[in-house]
Amino acid sequence: MPAKKPSRNVTVIGIETSCDETAISLLSANGSTVRVKTHLVSSQVPIHQKYGGVVPEVAARSHVPELVSLLTQTLGKKKFKAFDVIAVTSGPGLATALRVGLESARMLAFLSGKPIIGVNHLEGHLASAWLNPKNRLKWKFPLLALIVSGGHTELVLMNGFGKYRIVGQTRDDAAGEAFDKSAKLMGLPYPGGPAIAKLALEGNPDEFKLPRPMLQDPSLDMSFSGLKTAVRLAWEPWKNVAAERKELAKRHLAASVQTAIVEVLVEKTIRAAKKYKVKGVLLVGGVSANAMLREELGKRVKKDLPKVAYLPSDRAYITDNAAMIAAAGLWRYRMNDLDDWKKLDANPEWNLG
Ligand code: KG4
Ligand code: ZN
Repeated sequence: MPAKKPSRNVTVIGIETSCDETAISLLSANGSTVRVKTHLVSSQVPIHQKYGGVVPEVAARSHVPELVSLLTQTLGKKKFKAFDVIAVTSGPGLATALRVGLESARMLAFLSGKPIIGVNHLEGHLASAWLNPKNRLKWKFPLLALIVSGGHTELVLMNGFGKYRIVGQTRDDAAGEAFDKSAKLMGLPYPGGPAIAKLALEGNPDEFKLPRPMLQDPSLDMSFSGLKTAVRLAWEPWKNVAAERKELAKRHLAASVQTAIVEVLVEKTIRAAKKYKVKGVLLVGGVSANAMLREELGKRVKKDLPKVAYLPSDRAYITDNAAMIAAAGLWRYRMNDLDDWKKLDANPEWNLG
C-alpha cells in the first residue's frame, strides 16, 4: 500500500493473540529513543492447564473478552489518539486465535484511518532482544538468532531488518515442545519448560543418559522428537516406586532433559555463528527464559567467539507479549512496509525468511 514518509515520532499499538496469551502494548519511538509505555498480558495458562496443553478453540474464545478489556484499558479516554500505527500478529499461530486479534485490529484501522501492519510473531520474538537498550547499542548486522519457543526452533541469519534466512531448524518437535512433552510424561503441569527447569535445580543430569539428537550431524538442523521416547523409557521403571525415591528420580530426569536440550541448542548455535561470521548472537522465544540455556550460551559465546555480542531477549519480553509485536511493527513501519486493512488476513504457517 502506498504510504507517506514514516514519521520519526510515533506510537505503535501492538496486538498479540497467536496462541494462549492475549496482549496489548503501546510503544513510543522518537528516532533512536524507544519506550514501552504500556505492556498488558493476560495469560490463559490456568485455563489450558486442565487439558494439559493449548486447546485452539478454547484459546480463540478466551481471547475475545480479554482483548476487549485490555483494549479499553490501553486506549482509555484518548481512544484513537493513543496510537499512530497498528501492529498485529498475523502469523504463524493458531488460525482461529490469530483472527481474534486480527479482526479487532482491522476494525481499529478502518475506524481510525491509521496504518496497519501484519507482524510475523517470530519477527516479534527477534525484536524482544532489541527492546533491551543495552542490546540495541551492540546491534550490528549480520546477526544470528536462536528462536526457541513452543512451536519453533530456528537458527535465523539476520542480514538487516526484514532480511532473514533460516539456516537451521528442528526437523520435528520444537525445543519448547520437547520440554512440554517430557514434562507431561513425568506428570508435571503445563507449560512443562518452567516446571522442568525448577525441578532440574535439585537434580543431577548424569543420573539418566539421554540422547543428544543430531549433535554430531554436520548440518545446522536439530531433532527433538526422539527425546520424548527416551524420556518415556527412562521414566517407565520409576512410575510406581515409593514417593520419595520417585521425586528424587524426577529431579534427576528433569535435569537430564534440560541438559540434553540445552547442549544441542548451544552447540548448533555456536557452529552457525562461526560459519556465518556474525557480529552478534540473539537468544529469543519462550524457552529463552531457561536460566541454564541463557547462561550456557552466554558462556560459550564469550569463550569461543570473544568479539561477538551476546544479545538475549529482554527478561520482561521473553514469553508471548505485544511489546515485541509493536517493536517489530515499528521496524516494518520504518521500512514503509504497510498492509491494507481490507486485505490483511491470518497466515498461520507464515515462515520467517
Ligand atoms: O514463545 P512462547 O511464550 O510461546 C510460543 O510462541 O510458543 O513459548 C512457550 C514455550 C513453552 O513450550 C514453555 O514450556 C517454554 O516456552 N518455556 C520454557 C521456560 N519458560 C517457558 N522452557 C524451558 N525453560 C523455561 N524456563
Ligand atoms: Zn511465541
